[in-house]
Amino acid sequence: MLAGKRILLIIGGGIAAYKALELIRLLRGQGASVTPVLTRAGAEFVTPLSVAALAGEPLHQDLFDLTTEAEMGHIQLSRAADLVVVAPCTADLMAKMAQGHATDLASTLLMATDKRVLIAPAMNVRMWEHPATQRNLATLTGDGILTIGPDIGDMACGEHGPGRMAEPAAILAAIDTALSDGPLKGRHILVTSGPTHEPIDPVRYIANRSSGQQGSALAAALRDLGAQVSFVTGPASTPPPAGVTVIRVDTAQQMLEAVQSALPADAAIFAAAVADWRVKNEAGQKMKKIAGALPTLEFAENPDILATISHHAQRPPLVVGFAAETESVIAHAQAKRLRKGCDWIIANDVSPATGIMGGAENAVHLITADSVEDWPRLPKAEVARRIAARIAATLGPAA
Ligand code: CTP
Repeated sequence: MLAGKRILLIIGGGIAAYKALELIRLLRGQGASVTPVLTRAGAEFVTPLSVAALAGEPLHQDLFDLTTEAEMGHIQLSRAADLVVVAPCTADLMAKMAQGHATDLASTLLMATDKRVLIAPAMNVRMWEHPATQRNLATLTGDGILTIGPDIGDMACGEHGPGRMAEPAAILAAIDTALSDGPLKGRHILVTSGPTHEPIDPVRYIANRSSGQQGSALAAALRDLGAQVSFVTGPASTPPPAGVTVIRVDTAQQMLEAVQSALPADAAIFAAAVADWRVKNEAGQKMKKIAGALPTLEFAENPDILATISHHAQRPPLVVGFAAETESVIAHAQAKRLRKGCDWIIANDVSPATGIMGGAENAVHLITADSVEDWPRLPKAEVARRIAARIAATLGPAA
């Protein structure tokens, strides 16, 4: 899969830089070429000579290198690759990327590239958990940057926790995935996710407990199979995955509009927990507390996005809904499939005792026109992979 591919590898300054040497070896072993870039800090941890020798290619270190500029400008350098990989990616590099700095060769290449970027963060656990790094991670994820790791473990600084760079073999697998065509290449798939917020007044709203975990996992699994994913998400606590087109909305009405504008699609999966009602008498100003007088909220029904798209003139060939039930799960879900007009329903039991709502696992039933499949209890990411694989098998290769 990697034969003939060119990886632009940026090695940042961290103790994990030595693992980048192993990564170069693994990449070349798979037939890929490596254009190595070493940051000033990176050169404190590994020598330019070892990097260039293992890559078998000239090393790039300076932004203002006249020889390189004459032969191949940094813009071209960033575009001649099939994928840009940053390993190790330090907190400083993440901050530069999130802010759009172009102060040295590495950050300039990252700004100038038109290729996908995969980062393998590596840093002290406190630095990783720092709100600034987490903010930068959310920004980068939203920008479509792919991430692998960090792993949890003992660190060179003596602390324990997340921050260790992913192992070279795992980074290699992530590179392979990022470059693979996959069975959903050429397919556009729409995914809704998360809760909706329905305003009461400019500062208050009605919400629900959906974390957006299953929707995010689904979008990631579809992306991994090569689909172009439009991810329409309400204000979820789970960040959207990298490498998908993120469309953020607040209300059910905005979600419907966003979904309609994203059509046509080859398939649409409705994993969002859409509020069934909105406040009809939404106040234009913050409602004041008046002693002894309780406000009365009036409700209006929200559009049913799944049902609307199932009967839409541009209905995708495959429409999949979810059914969160607390009793008679299969019977209710079968009725829901018919009522909404979708092809499949993924049903699950969200009774508090199951721990599924907001938890890391899910136990689902796949309900089609003529079958009911009971899947075992699995991590949500695995449920997502299985659904994505089933969608790929059903749609077949794109024309
Ligand atoms: N759904 C939607 N728009 C809505 C309500 C729900 O698109 N306004 C979608 C959800 O994304 C999900 C499916 O419909 O795929 C079922 O959602 P659920 O809340 O279980 O169904 P309801 O229609 O609200 O039925 P009930 O609350 O009676 O179970």
